[in-house]
Amino acid sequence: MAALLMRVVAAAVAVASVLALGAVAQLSPTFYDGSCPSLQSIVRSGMTSAVQSEPRMGASILRLFFHDCFVNGCDASVLLDDSSTLTGEKNAAPNANSLRGFEVIDAIKSRVEAACPGTVSCADILALAARDGVNLLSGPTWAVPLGRRDTRTASQAAANSNLPSPSSSAATLVSAFASKGLDSRDLVALSGAHTIGSARCASFRSRVYNDSNINAGFATKRRQICQPQSGGSDGNLVPLDAMSSVKFDNGYFRNLVGQFGLLHSDQELFGGGAVDSITAQYARNGGAFARDFVTAMIKMGNISPLTGSNGEIRSNCRKPN
Ligand code: HEM
Ligand SMILES: *[C@@H]1O[C@H](CO)[C@@H](O)[C@H](O)[C@H]1NC(C)=O
Repeated sequence: MAALLMRVVAAAVAVASVLALGAVAQLSPTFYDGSCPSLQSIVRSGMTSAVQSEPRMGASILRLFFHDCFVNGCDASVLLDDSSTLTGEKNAAPNANSLRGFEVIDAIKSRVEAACPGTVSCADILALAARDGVNLLSGPTWAVPLGRRDTRTASQAAANSNLPSPSSSAATLVSAFASKGLDSRDLVALSGAHTIGSARCASFRSRVYNDSNINAGFATKRRQICQPQSGGSDGNLVPLDAMSSVKFDNGYFRNLVGQFGLLHSDQELFGGGAVDSITAQYARNGGAFARDFVTAMIKMGNISPLTGSNGEIRSNCRKPN
């Protein structure tokens, strides 16, 4: 009797902790196999043409997915435009003049709607497109768990407070990721996304003028296109990974070991603290990075999805139905 009671209590505790983590969602890679069999090939071909015309787009779409998931979960909130009745997230500080790729998602969504009307969420399209962006730039591929639904709301305040800033310390990054159920390995692996794409002078100015743990020649070179005062050069772009910004490899981590990190937050991952050993491991072992990146992407994609009858399947990714 006591043993039975203990088991009932243990089961209840397990259910309660799953609920507390918001991990009740049962996403599945086969979710649309019956309802939209052409989904994956439509997303793949949309991303293939986008990356062919501009390789950076693989990076831009990957970042959209991160900025979606970290703000109240992977619910396509980041895709909503401002309107008279809704304040979206696009003008939050980490996103304004920076996030891009919305037209690519729109184009894929219209082809998906034509094939399978009212069936596939914008949140799932974004998750698949991010995966394909990585793979098209020579990164790994994986089966993306699906079944997310789209939110009817957005939160500019949450976008401002939940998205880490490039001035963050390692400790701040670790706790920002921990608050999303992601551990230090996930943090370092996911930061490896900065092996592709670019950043604006506004994001790395203080790093190249004021940080001491930066390769001197690299800092000098970056200062040339980023004036010390904010103004006209704010939007000047440079690759996050100076070696190979259109190739998804472990070059980002090799840069960090040599103090070639572009963002202050990047260099914090090899800045004398507890996560240095993970960065060093990925710098040595690209296979370990690729494996951990996939694991962490799936975990990030599981942050508080709307499932079942929650949320909706938007017909236009930019506005609620
Ligand atoms: C660890 C905390 C992170 C910080 C502080 C951070 C910050 C930034 C900043 C400041 C930029 C440049 C934006 C600009 O100047 O316009 C950037 C770009 C980018 N970030 Fe992150 N990021 C982080 C993590 C991530 C994660 C987890 C991912 C995806 C898994 C990601 C993917 C990207 C990509 C791909 C770009 C380049 C985008 C493009 O070229 O359009 N970042 N990030
Ligand atoms: C560098 O630090 C100094 C002293 O804190 C500050 O006055 C200056 O604005 C900083 N420069 C940049 C480019 O961040």
